[in-house]
Amino acid sequence: MNYFEIASRYAGSMMRGEPALLKELRETTARELRYDDMLSGPVVGSFLNMLVRISGARSVLEIGTFTGYATLWMAAALPQDGKLVTCETNEKYALIARRFIERFRHEAAGQTHGHKSAGQTHGQKAAGQTHGHKSAGQTHGQKAAGQTHGQKAPGQTSGMVNTAKSDLPHWGSDIFNPGQSKGPEIRLCMGPALETPWPDQVDFVFLDADKEHYPDYYQRIMPRLASGGLLVVDNAFWGGKVWGSESLAETPDASVAKVSEAYDDEQKTRGRVVPADRQAAAIDRLNRVIADDAHVENVVLTVRDGLHLVRKIR
Ligand SMILES: C[S@@+](CC[C@H](N)C(=O)[O-])C[C@H]1O[C@@H](n2cnc3c(N)ncnc32)[C@H](O)[C@@H]1O
Repeated sequence: MNYFEIASRYAGSMMRGEPALLKELRETTARELRYDDMLSGPVVGSFLNMLVRISGARSVLEIGTFTGYATLWMAAALPQDGKLVTCETNEKYALIARRFIERFRHEAAGQTHGHKSAGQTHGQKAAGQTHGHKSAGQTHGQKAAGQTHGQKAPGQTSGMVNTAKSDLPHWGSDIFNPGQSKGPEIRLCMGPALETPWPDQVDFVFLDADKEHYPDYYQRIMPRLASGGLLVVDNAFWGGKVWGSESLAETPDASVAKVSEAYDDEQKTRGRVVPADRQAAAIDRLNRVIADDAHVENVVLTVRDGLHLVRKIR
């Protein structure tokens, strides 16, 4: 194992606040699909949760639901009246996502009957929760980021009876919790995300699908992203493919080549298709477009497969 792999493991071992529901979602994904490597995982998930919370975002757009893992981490940080739209093309993945989104809502509703908040682990406090009944990250006498007077923390309910539908349609656009005060509204849109209607304005975007079209997504996202809003682009490194074989010789650190080779070998062994060059090229193009965009501030974080964090300044 190289330094980065050990560091990632160490970081993961410090992640003790993963909600029980999300742990179960990871395990269910691995069991039912027999692969879960597309799932962002606890470190990225909790980081997204923290970003949504501290930015005070009220609306989130996710490109690439998979089984809903990051979806629920982000939804859990939204205020009661928040909105989340997530896009997916694969029905098999969406079926799992729907099941867990529904459970998330049931657990949120259950809180009114003295149960734990949505996704809270047994016998544990919610991530960052201290004494009493605060929401994750909330401190004494403070409201959660984005929460206004008279509002409840995410996941907290107002005593209404949960009317979640259990026979949800398989296709189309599903709205969970439309206009009800039981936590944020979650809309799962089926179909190619570039052709899906998106909200006119969003505060937070997680781009995590369809790598070949990353630059196109950027063009479509930026006019909708609120000033001060955040965009998080996943797989900014694409397993090292973004710096590819041609530019590898120019990289100062030889370990980069080793990491890239190790990644390729692992992918081949597991029988997964090695990412095409055009995907890496599209991601690299977007990374450069962002870096040159005077309308944004950006930082590429060496978290997992690279997270490109973008804040729109105007
Ligand atoms: C990396 S996974 C998303 C992981 C998820 N965000 C998470 O953190 O757990 C990418 C997902 O995007 C979906 N996808 C691929 N192309 C898409 C497209 N054009 N529009 C919407 N979803 C797409 C795939 O089916 C896959 O489930």
